[in-house]
Amino acid sequence: MLDQITELQEAGLRAVAAATTTDALEELRVGLLGRKAELPNLLRGVRDLPPDQRGPAGKAANEARQAIQSAIDERVATVAAAELDVRLRAERVDVTLPGRPEPVGGLHLLTRVRRQIEDVFLGLGFDVVEGPETETVHHNFDALNHAPNHPARDPGDTFYLAPSTVLPPLPAAAGAPTTADGGPLTRLLRTHTSPMQVRIMEREDPPVAVIVPGRVYRPDSDATHTPQFHQVEGLWIDVDITLADLKGVLLSFARAIFGEEREIRLRPHFFPFTEPSVEIDVSCHLCGGTGHRTDVAGHPRCGLCKGTGWIEILGSGMVDPNVLTAVGRPAYDPERVQGFAFGMGIERIAMLRYGLDDLRPLYENDLRLLGQLA
Ligand code: DAH
Repeated sequence: MLDQITELQEAGLRAVAAATTTDALEELRVGLLGRKAELPNLLRGVRDLPPDQRGPAGKAANEARQAIQSAIDERVATVAAAELDVRLRAERVDVTLPGRPEPVGGLHLLTRVRRQIEDVFLGLGFDVVEGPETETVHHNFDALNHAPNHPARDPGDTFYLAPSTVLPPLPAAAGAPTTADGGPLTRLLRTHTSPMQVRIMEREDPPVAVIVPGRVYRPDSDATHTPQFHQVEGLWIDVDITLADLKGVLLSFARAIFGEEREIRLRPHFFPFTEPSVEIDVSCHLCGGTGHRTDVAGHPRCGLCKGTGWIEILGSGMVDPNVLTAVGRPAYDPERVQGFAFGMGIERIAMLRYGLDDLRPLYENDLRLLGQLA
């Protein structure tokens, strides 16, 4: 039996040394030391031997079992380490590769442009305030020096609200549009952010320097007009504000949004609530103000500024003394304070800045388009 044990031990140790995978070693463990294996069988047979042989045979079989067991343990440790090495190499992650994050969404183009505009004016010392989207005819038109028959008051150009059952009735200017049955039209969806000029002066003493971003409404609908759109109003009133301040502020704005190379020009215009009134043009950022695309073969006429080199971006002017008077507060005595106002369309700025020729897609919530503008 001793020979048999030695033979089993040697064969076992050879097999273990030759095994190259942990799976193979597990099979060997079962095959050599498991319940049905030969060596344990021999061990069980020891008790049937003559008493004088039991001791040495049992000892030898036990030692053989232990030798095989520790050979397997050792070999498993080596083989497992090698296997781990192979796996680590195969499943290696290059942590220096750029990530592929799930899209988490982004700000709408109009929100981003609004924030850019706000940042520019915050940097120039203006506050950002908001105002009501439903307005009184008084704030939207009368206090802004619109004559009672001004065309913008026409119900074809303004969304009037039905007389309120909750809010007190307001007086209407003589000669202003009325309801079909002759009733007063005294509330509306604001057609511009300019009424906030009056509201701010009603509640705050000069000096005031504010911008007012917000929604405005007009019954217009085509490629460049939607019935609801966005404006940013600006107002700066103090004892010594001049047209030169207006030009400096709006030049800074134009350069921040359209590029440091830009120039602006003031073109005479008319608005009821500013005197003098100007429209501000910025030199074209597509052709560098030349009117011609020097970056395109044949140097064709620039389509954005229509060959003029200039693009209209906003209306502005010195606040009309009649507006200051309409505020009805001594602090805004037109003999003592003066200032400028301006108003721009956020959609227009966005279209110019990002080369869009139709603004309706901005409101259609098609992520394939909005994602490109993010
Ligand atoms: N409210 C004008 C509009 O909607 C824009 C405007 C022009 C605002 C001149 C101003 C201004 O403050 O001074 O067309």
